[in-house]
Amino acid sequence: MHASQSTSETDLVAGSVSRLSTDAGSMAPHIIGRSGALRHVLHQVEIVAPTDATVLVLGETGTGKELVARAIHDRSNRRDRQFVKINCAAIPSGLLESELFGHERGAFTSAIAQRIGRFQLADGGTLFLDEVGEIPMELQPKLLRVLQEQEFERLGGSRTIKVDVRLVAATNRDLGEMIGAQSFREDLYYRLNVFPIAIPPLRERPEDVDALVDHFVARFARQMDRQIDIIPPETRDALRRHAWPGNVRELENLIQRALILSPDRILTLPPGQPVPPRSRVVENGSTTLEGIKRAHIVRVLEETNWTVGGPRGAAARLGLKRTTLQSLLKRLQIAPPADPLARASA
Ligand SMILES: Nc1ncnc2c1ncn2[C@@H]1O[C@H](COP(=O)(O)OP(=O)(O)OP(=O)(O)O)[C@@H](O)[C@H]1O
Ligand SMILES: [Mg+2]
Repeated sequence: MHASQSTSETDLVAGSVSRLSTDAGSMAPHIIGRSGALRHVLHQVEIVAPTDATVLVLGETGTGKELVARAIHDRSNRRDRQFVKINCAAIPSGLLESELFGHERGAFTSAIAQRIGRFQLADGGTLFLDEVGEIPMELQPKLLRVLQEQEFERLGGSRTIKVDVRLVAATNRDLGEMIGAQSFREDLYYRLNVFPIAIPPLRERPEDVDALVDHFVARFARQMDRQIDIIPPETRDALRRHAWPGNVRELENLIQRALILSPDRILTLPPGQPVPPRSRVVENGSTTLEGIKRAHIVRVLEETNWTVGGPRGAAARLGLKRTTLQSLLKRLQIAPPADPLARASA
């Protein structure tokens, strides 16, 4: 097996992140990569971690935002306290306030007992607010207040609860654009954007692909009790050249599938994988409105791994109803890549 060839600087950071995370009992794995872009991210993590500053982690899906959030906690003075995570997109908006701040018994019909919210659970530690762009407008003032004053009341309660929480937020949405569309408060944005860390997409740091491939091959080989000795150069080339719309997660999933399908000690990619990027040609060449529209839709679809509906699907990103986008796709004859595996990695 080829060992990861991280530079000593990256090794230093990745190594200590992992050691600290073991000490704290968390599951944060190594952050692998040796590109200048990733080293810059890791450097920012090192600088900001020991402070109590709010961090806003930005990046496309699968770039490692959660990994970075955990690394910040694991390198902070709060590492022995809780790292509490809440995904604002995964919780129905009506329940989010109670999840974040808790509720008193009887606050609403189904509130049969008092409940402690995530802010209180994270007291002394770090709260990771994932998909912060999905927080409904009506909840944003309460979030702003807890960030500014470190205090809040439970739903249905009048007692003010004081906490000491470090916040790390993440989003793959363009919050600036959301402010323009009046779906995100500008004051909250400035309060969150104290220390932004932007993780570049994998296609902008192809130097990281080799080390990531080695890392995932080693990990899945260990998990599956397999041995892979050879990664053919043409396989590495294909992986390095791919655009990775699903970023590191897509690469991770592809390597796992490849290991399942590799019959022997040679890493063999599933047939037709990775699917070459489509339609970039149109994007460059077209000057007609229709052509540019088409190219833009295809790009957004690629970025969402051809997911049309849902809060993180292409329709939401384009500001269209799902059904409107679907009829547009039909009219413009836009179809996903032929191999269904290309979408399985979303
Ligand atoms: N630099 C890296 N080294 C090793 N593993 C990585 C790296 N970046 C991402 N990963 C892995 O890729 C997967 C996706 O990472 P993560 O969940 O942190 O992404 P994300 O940015 O939060 O994505 P999403 O926006 O979809 O939630 C995880 O399994 C993570 O461990
Ligand atoms: Mg995430």
